[in-house]
Amino acid sequence: MAYLIGIDIGTSATKTVLFDEECRVIASASEEYPLYQPHNGWAEQHPEDWKHATFATIAAVLNKSGVKGSDVKGIGLSGQMHGLVMLDENNEVIRPAIIWCDQRTGKECEEITERVGKERLMQITANPALTGFTASKILWVRNHEPENYARCKHILLPKDYIRFALTGVFATEVSDASGMQLLDVPKRQWSTEVLQKLDINPALLAKVYESPEVTGEVLPKVAAQTGLAAGTPVVGGAADNAAAAVGTGIVTDGSAFTTIGTSGVVYAHTSKISIDAKGRVHTFCSAVPGCWLVLGCTQAAGLSLNWFRNNFCQEEVLTAKGMEVSPYFLMDKEAAKVPIGANRLLYLPYLMGERSPHLDPECRGAFVGLSGIHTKRDLLRAVMEGVTYSLRDCYEVLKEMGVSIDRMMACGGGGTSPLWRQMLADVYNCPVSTIQSEGPALGVAILAGVGAGLFPSVPEACAHFLSVDKTCAPVPENVPQYEHFYKIYTRLYGDLKESFHLLAQ
Ligand code: XUL
Repeated sequence: MAYLIGIDIGTSATKTVLFDEECRVIASASEEYPLYQPHNGWAEQHPEDWKHATFATIAAVLNKSGVKGSDVKGIGLSGQMHGLVMLDENNEVIRPAIIWCDQRTGKECEEITERVGKERLMQITANPALTGFTASKILWVRNHEPENYARCKHILLPKDYIRFALTGVFATEVSDASGMQLLDVPKRQWSTEVLQKLDINPALLAKVYESPEVTGEVLPKVAAQTGLAAGTPVVGGAADNAAAAVGTGIVTDGSAFTTIGTSGVVYAHTSKISIDAKGRVHTFCSAVPGCWLVLGCTQAAGLSLNWFRNNFCQEEVLTAKGMEVSPYFLMDKEAAKVPIGANRLLYLPYLMGERSPHLDPECRGAFVGLSGIHTKRDLLRAVMEGVTYSLRDCYEVLKEMGVSIDRMMACGGGGTSPLWRQMLADVYNCPVSTIQSEGPALGVAILAGVGAGLFPSVPEACAHFLSVDKTCAPVPENVPQYEHFYKIYTRLYGDLKESFHLLAQ
């Protein structure tokens, strides 16, 4: 029997999953690590922590399963996007990695827009200058830590640092490289123009591959430490969302998924590149060679519900503990008792500012229409509906761009709530399905299977191994009711924008 390994280097933990050649889970292991926030708005991690977690979890899945390293035919890597890892001439890490949610680079984004030009930047990198993306982090180190910048010989993304640790090779792949703001996203190669205008030496960057291509092989010293066999191929892999798309079968035109995790993501696959001129959503290369993805991100999806739970639901938390269920299960039941529209109460989910569709770090959350009749239950229902309206905003931008969507999957913690799934189906007016899947780890294991020659192509492997679990159809009488409230919701950001900015000053 042949086996594949998928490794997902996330923000809270690294998860390694061993699959057999039928993509069945044989063993899985994860190891957590800290996130450092040395200043307000900064976010850093130690690349050595990712490396330790990767090596330990590879050894753990092989030990647990008894599978021989030589039977593992390929390894795929997935990970958090946008993080900056810098290595010196001895390939040692120079400073902690500045990761995706770090917000220190506002000035550097202005510098990028000025040097490249707003329109050229959109045409080439498919995105406006964003604080989360890697290029602004590189400029920040150059502006604030010139001694570190002078020592830097290699720039890598988080999962590509792990690739280097496993294989000794400096390589990346198109989906993750898209989030660096240095890639020509339509042409799927580094942009000489952007690199020249930003005065970044191309020699610092890794070679770019397509996601299923073999990029290197496991080193003998790594084999000795992990139980893998020297020479095991490591494929390009993919950025977390692009990998999750493969793991849930979103690899053909018309297919899309919505994730309600901490943030909320609406993701659609497209074989024809489409860029939003207003920069409201991201366009990246997808893990399927020759294809792209369009992704809208609302910052506080699950985070809104988590905030509500922590501040107002102590009773439910205690009861849930006694019943050995999740507090969200009880909160779902409470929210289900309230009619659509939460008795004329609306919630704006901008607790963390917003990315899609408003790109406004200063906007904030709001309850609008609060009355003496409202109870906690109404507020809870309004939170769930408000997050769903924000996801609908992302969905509308994708449709406006001409990206076709006729199949929607629901993933992440929110996807497990029957009430939220039904709300999504009704608010989108589109059937919403779920799938049993290991998400990104399965996605990159499939890429490894394609790279190792076990599977013919990414779409064929997905069609063979993945099938829909449950489908939730829109309820015809609910659709116009939600539509009525969504229309009012869409007016509120514009109405309140100025007040948000005044509050922020
Ligand atoms: C995408 C993004 C996240 C991170 C962290 O733009 O910021 O998906 O990769 O998960």
